[in-house]
Amino acid sequence: MSISTPFPLDNTHALWERARQVMPGGVNASARLNPALGHALFFERGEGAYLFDVDGHRYIDYCISHGASLLGHGHPAVVRAVQEALSMGVLLAYETEIQVEVAERILALFPGMEMVRYACSGTETTWHALRVARAYTGRYAVIKFEGHYHGVNDTVGYSHWPDLEAAGPAESPRPVPDSAGIPPGSEDWITVLPFNDVAAFERCLRDGADKPAAVIMEPVNYDSCGIVPRPEFLRTVRDLTRELGVVLIFDEVLSGFRVRAGAALGDEVVPDMTVLGKAVGGGMPISAFLGRREIMETCTPVGPALHSGTYNAPPVLVIAIRALLDEVTRPGFYEHLDALGERLYAGMREILARREVKAWVQGVGARFGLLFGLDEEPRNYRDVARQDLEAMRRFHLACLERGVYLHYVSPHHGYSSAHTLADIDETLNVMDDAAGEVLRGQ
Ligand SMILES: Cc1ncc(COP(=O)(O)O)c(C=O)c1O
Repeated sequence: MSISTPFPLDNTHALWERARQVMPGGVNASARLNPALGHALFFERGEGAYLFDVDGHRYIDYCISHGASLLGHGHPAVVRAVQEALSMGVLLAYETEIQVEVAERILALFPGMEMVRYACSGTETTWHALRVARAYTGRYAVIKFEGHYHGVNDTVGYSHWPDLEAAGPAESPRPVPDSAGIPPGSEDWITVLPFNDVAAFERCLRDGADKPAAVIMEPVNYDSCGIVPRPEFLRTVRDLTRELGVVLIFDEVLSGFRVRAGAALGDEVVPDMTVLGKAVGGGMPISAFLGRREIMETCTPVGPALHSGTYNAPPVLVIAIRALLDEVTRPGFYEHLDALGERLYAGMREILARREVKAWVQGVGARFGLLFGLDEEPRNYRDVARQDLEAMRRFHLACLERGVYLHYVSPHHGYSSAHTLADIDETLNVMDDAAGEVLRGQ
């Protein structure tokens, strides 16, 4: 991949050259390569709403660790909590009071959820939840939706952003593996459906020969730029899964705590299981799966679904959840997030309209999609797949040069509670300038 950086990044380039000798692609997560630049960026530190790269540039961050740093980088309450837990023995891979207290507090925020188990990443927790759902139902098939992402696990590693030719008809998509190396035959256990399509869902569940173990979905599909579920679709999914004894899993790895303190949809629709990651850890690598007692007691040692792990729930990570919960339940937390979102989304819409750029701003809580080439709200992945990625690339690069970090080619961006209205205003000035330079009349 060629490097095309129009602003001085000498230290970054030197580091990337070294990095790619010792790490494939010079990165530790493929999403960290920035195809707009042709390399990864290398940072010295994050502080609140800002990132500082190794070349001395400061950026207002709209990636925020791909959604994990909802409180901003290095929130003092998280740092204090982690320091306190480190003094308990660094790892301390045993049960303590902290896991119990935090489980009680998480459950109080997620309607219908009665028990918790912790894991480390979003990938792990979706995988565990699916295993538990399979063990509980005694079935193996899983339904997921096109454009939804549930981590890099083989079980549901299909059709996150599939090539449209490979994906087949919109109303009955073919499962397209997200990766090489998934054993052939795995796709026999997965059905991919279009999101927000009541008829396709009903057809699949009513007519399908074998009932699935689980339906897994992002309640707000941030991984396709923030698509919201239609009420009728949600009702159908809930009613049919309940009627047929299928476990409904909400993957709230990205959506949890983004709109309110807890589930993105509140108690509008209550799933059987919920998986959490990213924001829940206040920036620390911890995740959790929650569910109804009857389902969760399928986990060993009570039931037959093996769930264990040396690094499950060390106090040094769980305590960071406690810090996050303290912050998000503080009066005014979501009022502040909403005020930032209102100003940012309205400002972006105004700029794009004035600059005559065809684009759709899909803001849902503290994360948003910015879709070039679209002028109406997307309903599912096929709508989003029509977006103009080249316009996105130019715009992101122009913003980056001016000190605003939108990660190319991420489907979702977001801000943190550490952002201020002044940061939003600075961002809008940058975006206006960037749009004027690279997008006018697009
Ligand atoms: C909805 C959703 N689920 C699961 C995952 C996987 O999480 P992780 O990257 O921590 O494995 C992601 C990551 O982006 C996600 O957006």
